[in-house]
Amino acid sequence: MSPAQDLSARELSRLVEGLSRFSAPGPGVTRFVYDDAWCEAQRWLVEAAKARGLEATRDRAGNLYLHDASVRPGARVVLTGSHLDTVRNGGPLDGPYGALAGLLLAAELRGSCEPPIVGLVTCEEEGSRFPGAFLGARAMVGELAIGEPGASRDAEGVTWAEALARAAANGCAAPGGLDGKAAAPFEIAAFLELHIEQGPVLESEKLALGIVDRIAGFRRVRATLTGETRHAGTTPMRLRHDALAAAAELALAAEHAALAMGDPAVATAGAANAQPGLYNVVAGSCELRLDVRHVDSARLEKLAGSIEAAAREIAKRRGVTLALETVSRQEPIAMSDEFVDAASGLATERRIACRRMPSGAGHDAMILASAGIPSLMLFVPSRGGISHAPEEFTEPDQLAAGVAFARELLPRLATLAARGSR
Ligand code: HGY
Ligand code: MN
Ligand code: MN
Repeated sequence: MSPAQDLSARELSRLVEGLSRFSAPGPGVTRFVYDDAWCEAQRWLVEAAKARGLEATRDRAGNLYLHDASVRPGARVVLTGSHLDTVRNGGPLDGPYGALAGLLLAAELRGSCEPPIVGLVTCEEEGSRFPGAFLGARAMVGELAIGEPGASRDAEGVTWAEALARAAANGCAAPGGLDGKAAAPFEIAAFLELHIEQGPVLESEKLALGIVDRIAGFRRVRATLTGETRHAGTTPMRLRHDALAAAAELALAAEHAALAMGDPAVATAGAANAQPGLYNVVAGSCELRLDVRHVDSARLEKLAGSIEAAAREIAKRRGVTLALETVSRQEPIAMSDEFVDAASGLATERRIACRRMPSGAGHDAMILASAGIPSLMLFVPSRGGISHAPEEFTEPDQLAAGVAFARELLPRLATLAARGSR
């Protein structure tokens, strides 16, 4: 057994603060997969793991596994962790909290569970740099679209494969690149992801813990509207085919569709890129990025369908052409019932104020669960429900309470996994 780890609020805060330093300039934390800050952050985590007696194994996507030296490739393990990348100008906890918890819990539970507990730091989850999102978890389980790494490009035109090759050359991924085969070096018996809630529920209900029983599905759609580029001063309104005006109407139609369906339906137009993007030119084209979510498959399909119908009606009426491309999608997924019950049982034993709840946010756990790996998520409160913003914050004591609960729960999940829990 390893010497007891420091799982205190103070130590967690120190680690969160240390990891958040690896960022591109600007407010909050900006760490895109394989960029310099990401590589330095990964190396910093490896050193932190080694200082706690763990070995670090990287896979061909740049996912990081933190484990006891006795855990050899091919072993059947229980993973716990989250992602290393962030959104642009995001907070210090979305991803890193679960990744750091995985590091601490793998060290704390070394040699005490069968299957053994291994810390996991996935390379990418947000979709901030490449369109696909969940690149790390999908590579782990072999869920890549054919040719995706060579076709998926960032804003500078760099492909996922090229960026990954550079990271591998820097020692931040195993060599060999990606094919359709699962990249994880272990057999995954189960997965636990600690995460901040990123919403207002736990704080408003004064609860310490959320036990996630299902994760909302989503569609991410790129809508490209093409009208006519014209002079803003001489083109009469009735003669215009304004791509940005059409995109604006579509953004409001998406918002209206989600409001009409009611909670927990959500629809977001997160970005509009109009060209040529000048004061005195009617936009000839506009790319609108839409994100649509629901915890129920049929409702998600209905919501996405009604927004697509609105897009076609707006384009036709305004005389602009419309191209719709689904760049990323996941169906809603349930967490392991047995794991949810085990977590609820432990919370009752420990008299911890908690509730079962859905996750409106997508997570690595949804990819592993969709691949048939029994998975569970635990949430800790987010101050003001704020996330994906520099103001993201959770009290250190609340972060530590989540880790302490997971420290007790993981041996129970390992036992369930050993019995072939689903
Ligand atoms: O967008 C999400 O739900 C997650 O934060 N990637
Ligand atoms: Mn996120
Ligand atoms: Mn996240």
